Amino acid sequence: MGMKRRKARPRRKKARPPARRRTRAARPARKPARIRRRTAPRPAAVVVTSLRPAAPKPGAVILPASLAARGLPAGVRPLHPGMQGNGPAPTIRTGLNASRPSHAPGGLPGKTLQGPGSLRAAPGAGGAASLAGRPMRRPAVAARRRDVCAMVLAAGLGKRMLSESSKLVHAVAGRPMVRHVVDAAKAAGMARTVVVVGNQADDVRRAVGEGDKRIGFAYQNAQLGTGHAVLSAETQLVGYEGDILILNGDLPALRPDTLKGFVEFHRASGAPLSLLTAVVPDPKGYGRVMRTYSGDVSRIVEEADATAEERATREINCGIYCSDAQWLWDPLKRARADNAQKEIYLTDLVEILRRDGHKVAAYRHPDAEEVLGVNDRRELAAAVRALHRRKAAALMQDGVTILDPETAYIDVDVKIGPDTILEPGVMLLGATEIGRGAVIGTGTRIADSIVGDGTSVLPYCVIAQSKIGRGCRIGPFAHLRPETHLDEDVRVGNFVETKKTRMAAGSKANHLTYLGDAEIGRKANIGAGTITCNYDGVSKMRTIIEDDVFVGSDTQLVAPVRIRKGAFIGAGSTITKDVPAHALAISRAEQVVKEDWVKRFGPKARQKGDKGKGGHSD
Ligand code: UD1
Ligand code: CA
Repeated sequence: MGMKRRKARPRRKKARPPARRRTRAARPARKPARIRRRTAPRPAAVVVTSLRPAAPKPGAVILPASLAARGLPAGVRPLHPGMQGNGPAPTIRTGLNASRPSHAPGGLPGKTLQGPGSLRAAPGAGGAASLAGRPMRRPAVAARRRDVCAMVLAAGLGKRMLSESSKLVHAVAGRPMVRHVVDAAKAAGMARTVVVVGNQADDVRRAVGEGDKRIGFAYQNAQLGTGHAVLSAETQLVGYEGDILILNGDLPALRPDTLKGFVEFHRASGAPLSLLTAVVPDPKGYGRVMRTYSGDVSRIVEEADATAEERATREINCGIYCSDAQWLWDPLKRARADNAQKEIYLTDLVEILRRDGHKVAAYRHPDAEEVLGVNDRRELAAAVRALHRRKAAALMQDGVTILDPETAYIDVDVKIGPDTILEPGVMLLGATEIGRGAVIGTGTRIADSIVGDGTSVLPYCVIAQSKIGRGCRIGPFAHLRPETHLDEDVRVGNFVETKKTRMAAGSKANHLTYLGDAEIGRKANIGAGTITCNYDGVSKMRTIIEDDVFVGSDTQLVAPVRIRKGAFIGAGSTITKDVPAHALAISRAEQVVKEDWVKRFGPKARQKGDKGKGGHSD
């Protein structure tokens, strides 16, 4: 399987480091990446730096460019000969890996690194020593780019949603939940992403989308826990020796920049495993991150297994891990389901590695909203809200006026041009695109539709799968159903419903009308109360109204029927036959007038007559 090395380097705000600090290895390798297969086992402590021509000199300072750019201090240790404990024997180690085994106390616990874009130190995050002003004890020998693959866990039962469908396929701001995670991984430059599916596997696969070569699937045959889910993907990653970014599938608000920064943090940490954590006011339901007195991560305790004291910890495991593939599979196989949920926890890997003498690094992420896990409907609503809020902020940044961002429900894929105004309470869904200088009135819902520049959609319109041209005026209270296609300067007024209907430039249907399966030419006027009778109970038929036709009010057009160019339909007509160009068609009964009829036969006259007959009135 072809592995592409990511091309784009994360944007950096600060200047590049001086040339002498940049080593060859600090630049991204040009060689196309691929999964490196182990050949015959070699003796421990043999260090193979496959992508670098010469091994670094002991003590050389080699930093990832991004760290060097920030001027972080580093003292580099000589490559470590091997691991201790009962972890897997380090046979072939490549560059970064070779220096990883370190268990010097106070190595690199819980650092908050200044990552690209969004990784910032959590204010007041106690326990995590700052990097500033203190040399890293363990070297960042992450001198060259390594492959990174992602694994997304999406096989779970999602019981807390109480749903017929997998929680991972629930829509969050216009995309299935799991797709947000897979898209974030892709956007973060993952060479490959393996999605672990199991429960309702076909639906989840479909939600992820098939046909992208960078995405593969692994199958977890029974939902025995997150650790088991990871192990189910081992066969998909046989021989892969780079880092694996492991992500829970229920984190729809994740940003690619956060993942990029986290991977860099992991590489710099030199630890075999890194966690992304957050400090939250209400940690209920999450695994708690336990630390030693010196601040190192010691283990993760799940809510169900935690003591009251452990539960009081507000630092949570976010379900985002970066693991060196070579320190993942074998240690994880030692995890046991001896816990409250009788599951194999991925989180047990922390304690297993620690017992083997490894360090587990932790990055504290300052934005808890971004790493919100969705387990129930309340969290689903919170995630949807978070994404809508973020979308509104981005649109305002791009010149869209949003009168009340708190009530703007705008899906992540919606596009809106500058100078468009959104009134409070609009819903813009799916693949909707709105041009420049448009106005979308309050209470309007538009799904998968295109709205042209300068068009006004007045309040309370419902529009789906339609195309509206420039300079149109729609609503209030209009219903544009699928396959409505309006050219420029069209007016569709209140209580007008359209379906599979095209209206060419300058045509109007201003009031109380149904236009279904209709083709309307330019500058036609459709009077109030016009109805296309398009359905005979069996099939749908078309109405064709050519350019410049005038349809009088309260007309029924019984399809199939064609009104040719410039014809005029008298109000109140029922049109059943084609009308020739420039003709008048009228089909109402002739009017009858009877002089003084009311005086002689109207209600009052009748009352008088009754009294005369001895009747009564009250
Ligand atoms: C998990 C973590 C917890 C963390 C939280 C963050 C474990 C044991 N706990 O708990 O420490 O705070 O996420 O949100 O990992 N899955 C499978 N197969 C399974 C079980 C789960 O693929 O057998 C998938 C789920 O579909 C889901 C993800 O793994 O996408 C996490 O599972 P979930 O049940 O939501 O774990 P939490 O209880 O939230
Ligand atoms: Ca979860």
